[in-house]
Amino acid sequence: MTTPLEVHLDADDQERTLRADVVAGLTASPKRLPPKWFYDAHGSELFEQITELPEYYPTRAERAILTERAAEIARDTGARTLIELGSGYSTKTRLLLEALHPTRFVPMDVSPSALEAAATRIALDFPALPVHGIVGDITRHLGFLPGADHRLVAFLGGTIGNFEPAERARFLADVRGVLRPGEHLLLGTDLVKSPRVLVPAYDDAAGVTAEFNRNVLRVLNHHLQADFDVDGFAHVALWNADQEWIEMRLRARWPMRVTIPALDLVVEFASGEEIRTEISAKFRREGVEKELTEAGFALSQWWTDPEARFALSLAQAVA
Ligand code: SAH
Ligand code: AVI
Repeated sequence: MTTPLEVHLDADDQERTLRADVVAGLTASPKRLPPKWFYDAHGSELFEQITELPEYYPTRAERAILTERAAEIARDTGARTLIELGSGYSTKTRLLLEALHPTRFVPMDVSPSALEAAATRIALDFPALPVHGIVGDITRHLGFLPGADHRLVAFLGGTIGNFEPAERARFLADVRGVLRPGEHLLLGTDLVKSPRVLVPAYDDAAGVTAEFNRNVLRVLNHHLQADFDVDGFAHVALWNADQEWIEMRLRARWPMRVTIPALDLVVEFASGEEIRTEISAKFRREGVEKELTEAGFALSQWWTDPEARFALSLAQAVA
């Protein structure tokens, strides 16, 4: 039972925000672009391919936790509405749907193509479940989430690690702001571990992550008529040990001058100059608990996979 997507991010809004982000990011030093622009239809598809790569353990680790704990999550929360933020294809979410039997599922994502694909697949397996997809930016549109019977907000995959620390604090406080005391947040976080495991997860042998990274340039070429020579940029993934995050960058292989007519902008690249396209922060239990507490949540469960690679936190909004 799928209702048409509720759209809070139409093409005009997307275009305006993209322009503002690109002007700010590519005129800054060092250059940067926000990761949410990876996810056009091709980027969302590439992310799904990443989740199946041998080197990319987070999805498998989180699925293992969900498989083991879904019944407990259902029992502990008693949630009737399942909201999923940054839902993508909602592949792991079906484990929660099977355990919770919610009266409604509300996925929210910037990518309409991912939401459509998720809704179609879920409708096949859960034909009686109302699916109410919302095209929206989780940093701007949480106010459009339905208030209903007891809600569980799931934010899976470790996507919280793609926010800058200040953005993360603001986001968690905003999620708390839309919940009533007693309602729940289920948060997936990837954990700090050896760079020997982390770096290959972001620099796979098949080159899928490199394509995902470069896809942001294709998005700029398509939407802003930019003339990035996409293959002129090398994929870089490195572990920032001070910040405890992975950084993805695109490094110019030779000097380049890129024109972006829609912005009336010319961007110069020196050979070797980089654009930071993503951070993917890795967490420790103390840090997650502190950030949840500061945002107005109480951590009630902390579960990891058997190899302690990834964690799921169940937290309750406090009064
Ligand atoms: N939750 C899924 C997908 C993770 S990929 C999983 O665990 O596998 C990250 C998802 O977040 C993508 O689908 C992307 O489109 C979405 N996303 C990224 N930034 C977003 C934002 N600001 N607002 C809404 N969705 C966002
Ligand atoms: C969506 N997010 C949690 C992924 C991550 O691991 O940070 C995005 C990704 N970037 C490269 N590979 C996957």
